[in-house]
Amino acid sequence: MDAIPAPPVTLVIFGATGDLTRRLLLPALINLSRSGLVGDDLRIIGVGIEPGDSEILTSKLHEFLQSLDGRESLATDQAWLRLRQRISYVSGDFTKDTVFEEIARDLTLSGTGNAAFYLAVPPQFFGVIVEKLSQHGLITETDGNFRRIAIEKPFGTDLASAQALNNQILSHVAESQVYRLDHFLGKETVQNIMTARFANMMIEALWNSNYIDNVQITAAEVVDVGTRGKFYDATGALRDMVPNHLFQLLAMVAMEPPNSFDAEAIRNEKSKLLKAIRIYNSDEAAVHSARGAYSAGSLSGNPIAAYLDTKDVSDLSNTETFVALKLYADTWRWAGVPFYLRTGKAMAARDTEIVVTFRQVPFAQFRETDVHRNLPPNRLRIQVQPDEGLSMEMSIKSPGLSVETVPVSLDFRYADQFDIGKMTGYESLLYELFVGDQTLFQRADGIEAGWAVVQPFLDLWAKGGRPDTYEPGTMGPKSANDLLERDGRRWRELSVLSRRSHKSAPTS
Ligand code: BG6
Repeated sequence: MDAIPAPPVTLVIFGATGDLTRRLLLPALINLSRSGLVGDDLRIIGVGIEPGDSEILTSKLHEFLQSLDGRESLATDQAWLRLRQRISYVSGDFTKDTVFEEIARDLTLSGTGNAAFYLAVPPQFFGVIVEKLSQHGLITETDGNFRRIAIEKPFGTDLASAQALNNQILSHVAESQVYRLDHFLGKETVQNIMTARFANMMIEALWNSNYIDNVQITAAEVVDVGTRGKFYDATGALRDMVPNHLFQLLAMVAMEPPNSFDAEAIRNEKSKLLKAIRIYNSDEAAVHSARGAYSAGSLSGNPIAAYLDTKDVSDLSNTETFVALKLYADTWRWAGVPFYLRTGKAMAARDTEIVVTFRQVPFAQFRETDVHRNLPPNRLRIQVQPDEGLSMEMSIKSPGLSVETVPVSLDFRYADQFDIGKMTGYESLLYELFVGDQTLFQRADGIEAGWAVVQPFLDLWAKGGRPDTYEPGTMGPKSANDLLERDGRRWRELSVLSRRSHKSAPTS
């Protein structure tokens, strides 16, 4: 079914001059306009601390679009040229009433009763903006018009702060009006996890502890912390990536089938799964985790400083740039199946993928041959990025008279069959915000369940100790490998890396 165009709406962007707006929201809005999914009745009110007016804001945005690598066409795109006519700017301090009075005036002028307020601002402003919007009556829904709030991560820095923020927001606005964004949910392959599972009998029928040995979820990044030292040192890999992005992947992979594709049905199942993840005591947290910080070295041939020598990082920092966890979902379906998660900066490759390893076949059919000694298990790889796709690793008989098996991979790459090149991932999130579908957004209880799981690790590491070190351009510290080796398992080599090693392997 083709998507229908979004209804008329005014998008009020707090943080209109910031990086997120320029890099992601604006290109996504242009893409949506070009495809007709938002019409000329979309209006934008940008709000920012910098002085200026609508003309200055749109000129800056235009310059930015011109500077975008490989996307020069956006600045001359008819969709942008039309959209820029409908952008106005409110300059001022987000904590001052005058800003909200001006937004109210602009909203009335815009003539669209529907409004979505997008908080592309640092988290300390979330609470106060929602409060001010409420005091000025801007989020009260009247005459059938909607008023929605979209909030970017980070949503809290631990369990207590996430609960406090949820309480503060929900004292002014209903959960149905709150759209908490996790940009991983805008990625096509993440959305495809549900389809892969629930539209394919051969996958879902095997999707449980009877057939699955373990699940590995990796989000490896090549970039180092670079200029983000201030933010990163207060955050670390665990807070930055795990309770949000990695847990969204985990929930999609492990939740029970929802009764429908309705947002609440799906969010109920995701929350149920996150609430079922075992919460460790301090000793268990120590045993089931590894953390690291990268040393000085080189990345893609360029020298990089150690994390500890990064600008704005404390000399005494014990912040991790890599984390690996072993978790369990205590449910009937997943009893005893470990979920291994890892993520880090300055690693060997940029690659986000989920590897589901099935159990060995139960009976040594081939015992008269060499085969039974080295039958590899089946694996399903869901490649989230880059090079989005799915592959299934299976054993086949190699041609010839003797019985020998070889592993082969059945591969599907999105890029081979679809044109997905220009999307930022924010198109679907913005569109769903406008049409009022909360499927791709996080609910308060899901967020809190995620923080509850990581809290024991945060508490443990707050007591002291240092992360292990790892060389830039590797897959993290040795302790991350030990975490699996203790269970007689290994991390699967990332598909990007295994393709590289195949290419460089000598052919015989
Ligand atoms: C962000 C984190 O939420 O996600 C960043 O703050 C991280 O540190 C980024 O680099 C990863 O997202 P993506 O889409 O580039 O994989």
